[in-house]
Amino acid sequence: MLQLTNVGKTFNAKTPNAKVALRNINLTLEDGDFVTIIGGNGAGKSTLFNAIAGAFLCDTGRIYLDGQDYTFLPEYKRARCIGRLFQDPMRSTAPSMTIEENLALCYQRGTRRGFGIGVKKSDVAYFRDRLAELGLGLEDRLKTKMGLLSGGQRQAVTLLMATIVTPRLLLLDEHTAALDPATAVKVLEMTDRIVKKDHITTMMITHNIQSALELGNRTIMMDEGEIILDLKGEERENMTVEKLIDMFSQKRGKKLDNDRMLLV
Ligand SMILES: Nc1ncnc2c1ncn2[C@@H]1O[C@H](COP(=O)(O)OP(=O)(O)OP(=O)(O)O)[C@@H](O)[C@H]1O
Ligand SMILES: [Mg+2]
Repeated sequence: MLQLTNVGKTFNAKTPNAKVALRNINLTLEDGDFVTIIGGNGAGKSTLFNAIAGAFLCDTGRIYLDGQDYTFLPEYKRARCIGRLFQDPMRSTAPSMTIEENLALCYQRGTRRGFGIGVKKSDVAYFRDRLAELGLGLEDRLKTKMGLLSGGQRQAVTLLMATIVTPRLLLLDEHTAALDPATAVKVLEMTDRIVKKDHITTMMITHNIQSALELGNRTIMMDEGEIILDLKGEERENMTVEKLIDMFSQKRGKKLDNDRMLLV
């Protein structure tokens, strides 16, 4: 279970450039929740992920994951339990290392075998099976360098890396936004399959409102550092893209503005 209580963050506090990026965020996720997050540019979506992952310490509030107080835990310690994907597939991988070496790094981290012992033969069969599940033929390219893969292939492997040891929490920050539409659909399907199979508590930021409503079991909308809508159950099932955009305008007295927003 993830719990955030009164989490707040102001960048450049006490300067003329002060920016309140998170305002009194209260949020509880149950185990296995798959929450999609939408909102305009600068709404605070990525900042929320940074706060949870420990990129900075919050000014106020507390963060708990599975009962453990994460509030002051350094980022590298949180990373053992939190998987994270970004828009740029290269951000989470070592491009000059092979697929199997990248997977081994993540696998070893989970089993605490330490670094620098290379790829274990006994693990290779497992990597091959997991890659085969992606359906991209990557199981025959274990020795290919990550940097040589296409964006979609890299993002698929990155997803596998983040989940090869089941994380307590998976944070996906527009992880399909840089892919062409057909590949994005494939990677989203993969995401859904892995999250469901391993029952991973997941938060996914997307600019695609339609897929935000279709994927997962709950949708949060953010604006100006606040959670302004939290949809689940029947209300979410009956929600449409148009209704959601209308609700935003009514609540905030302005239009939802995101330069990458997809309305279909
Ligand atoms: N490290 C930082 N220093 C100063 N300001 C920051 C920092 N990180 C984010 N901000 C500001 O905080 C606000 C929220 O930014 P954030 O990146 O969380 O938005 P977002 O909802 O992810 O938007 P987008 O859809 O464009 O990715 C923005 O005004 C941004 O400029
Ligand atoms: Mg962002």
